[in-house]
Amino acid sequence: MAASVNFPFLISFLLFSSLLLASTLGASDAPIVNGLSWSFYESKCPKLKSIIRTQLKKVFKKNIGQAAGLLRLHFHDCFVQGCDGSVLLDGSASGPSEQDAPPNLSLRAEAFEIINDLRARVHKRCGRVVSCADITAIAARDAVFLSGGPDYEIPLGRRDGLNFATRNATLANLPAPTSNASVILTSLATKNLDPTDVVSLSGGHTIGISHCTSFANRLYPNQDPVMDKTFAKNLKLTCPTANTDNTTVLDIRSPDKFDNKYYVDLVNRQGLFTSDQDLYSDERTKGIVASFAENQSLFFEKFVNAMLKMGQLSVLTGTQGEIRANCSVRNSDNVSLASVVEEVEEDLLEL
Ligand code: HEM
Ligand SMILES: *[C@@H]1O[C@H](CO)[C@@H](O)[C@H](O)[C@H]1NC(C)=O
Ligand SMILES: *[C@@H]1O[C@H](CO)[C@@H](O)[C@H](O)[C@H]1NC(C)=O
Ligand SMILES: *[C@@H]1O[C@H](CO)[C@@H](O)[C@H](O)[C@H]1NC(C)=O
Ligand SMILES: *[C@@H]1O[C@H](CO)[C@@H](O)[C@H](O)[C@H]1NC(C)=O
Ligand SMILES: *[C@@H]1O[C@H](CO)[C@@H](O)[C@H](O)[C@H]1NC(C)=O
Ligand SMILES: *[C@@H]1O[C@H](CO)[C@@H](O)[C@H](O)[C@H]1NC(C)=O
Ligand SMILES: *[C@@H]1O[C@H](CO)[C@@H](O)[C@H](O)[C@H]1NC(C)=O
Repeated sequence: MAASVNFPFLISFLLFSSLLLASTLGASDAPIVNGLSWSFYESKCPKLKSIIRTQLKKVFKKNIGQAAGLLRLHFHDCFVQGCDGSVLLDGSASGPSEQDAPPNLSLRAEAFEIINDLRARVHKRCGRVVSCADITAIAARDAVFLSGGPDYEIPLGRRDGLNFATRNATLANLPAPTSNASVILTSLATKNLDPTDVVSLSGGHTIGISHCTSFANRLYPNQDPVMDKTFAKNLKLTCPTANTDNTTVLDIRSPDKFDNKYYVDLVNRQGLFTSDQDLYSDERTKGIVASFAENQSLFFEKFVNAMLKMGQLSVLTGTQGEIRANCSVRNSDNVSLASVVEEVEEDLLEL
């Protein structure tokens, strides 16, 4: 009698557990866009993820700052005409060849080189089957994990766009760091990102650096009364005038570590940009900031969810766009496309 099992109960229990498990692993309320899949390159390029992770481990060992550059690159790609690798094209407003991009757009030159180098490694192994947009997305994911953040899967299958991001489209889609929370919330709502997503994604500022020009509005001509006085005093030493070319870290507590300290900074009024600090003033976001400052697991969970949403903004799939042979130029502009698969070892950068 003791061994009798209630089968209907057992079955519904198993079903329920597997549903729970699926929702934990999926870790997302973000539906997967048609055309993307979790296993996209499983047969075409089974080693894709390990090629990228192995190489980025080496790159970050030399300079962990490159992780921040790669994370921001994916953000700029996705926000301006979708995650289609458009930011990588020569001619893009914050792209590799733009010398006159506003300083607040300054993406690291090395980030573009790292992506091109990863592309060469991946194409050498698998042929031209993996898009620059997917490589950028995977690199951003690895940047998060390899600097201490959560490890997570992302759906793949993005195709590369044919048009670079114009200066106007870029400025219209990337809110300024001088914006208040209202402006940021409104801007990101147009991309279906809710206040929790906004606060989570802003947590990308737990790593990396900024130029003085991006936060000088809080120091000159008048000091922002919200800013912690000692923090402001030190920033003025780094930025003696509004247009000094110096840089400083985005998260003073742990500048190279992907953790929840950025939110602890905000609670202590030591956020760098108006767009950061105002998240702790606006009633719609203040509680979310406080909850992330207290609970890193909660931040990681919501960050992954928001990255999955951001990473699927207006993606090209199927036969749309192309798979670029060189992330900096579209194929029709690349005169030596025929030489694609014969890339030689010497072409691989030692970063
Ligand atoms: C919400 C609106 C956002 C604004 C206004 C903003 C603004 C900025 C600005 C002005 C910089 C510094 C540029 C400079 O002066 O050199 C910066 C850096 C950075 N941003 Fe954002 N950002 C936003 C969202 C994001 C998102 C969604 C992510 C990624 C999830 C992100 C990741 C980064 C990283 C990692 C850096 C450091 C880059 C480096 O060290 O090279 N940002 N951001
Ligand atoms: C870009 O924006 C500026 C100012 O908003 C406008 O004068 C200009 O015509 C725009 N250029 C293009 C190509 O849309
Ligand atoms: C960058 O700074 C310029 C000049 O201060 C400003 O007009 C622009 O809106 C800013 N853009 C972003 C994306 O921060
Ligand atoms: C936020 O900034 C916008 C644009 O500068 C301004 O119109 C609005 O009044 C500001 N909102 C708050 C709450 O400060
Ligand atoms: C910032 O730049 C100024 C010159 O513009 C320089 O005197 C100062 O030492 C720099 N500060 C730091 C911390 O790099
Ligand atoms: C922190 O957040 C995680 C993830 O949502 C949750 O499981 C955990 O209970 C939270 N911890 C506390 C102390 O609230
Ligand atoms: C990719 O294109 C850029 C711009 O045309 C060029 O400078 C670079 O050498 C190309 N890279 C490779 C590996 O062919
Ligand atoms: C075209 O792409 C291939 C592969 O990256 C590269 O070897 C070649 O130099 C590129 N040509 C140009 C003009 O960018």
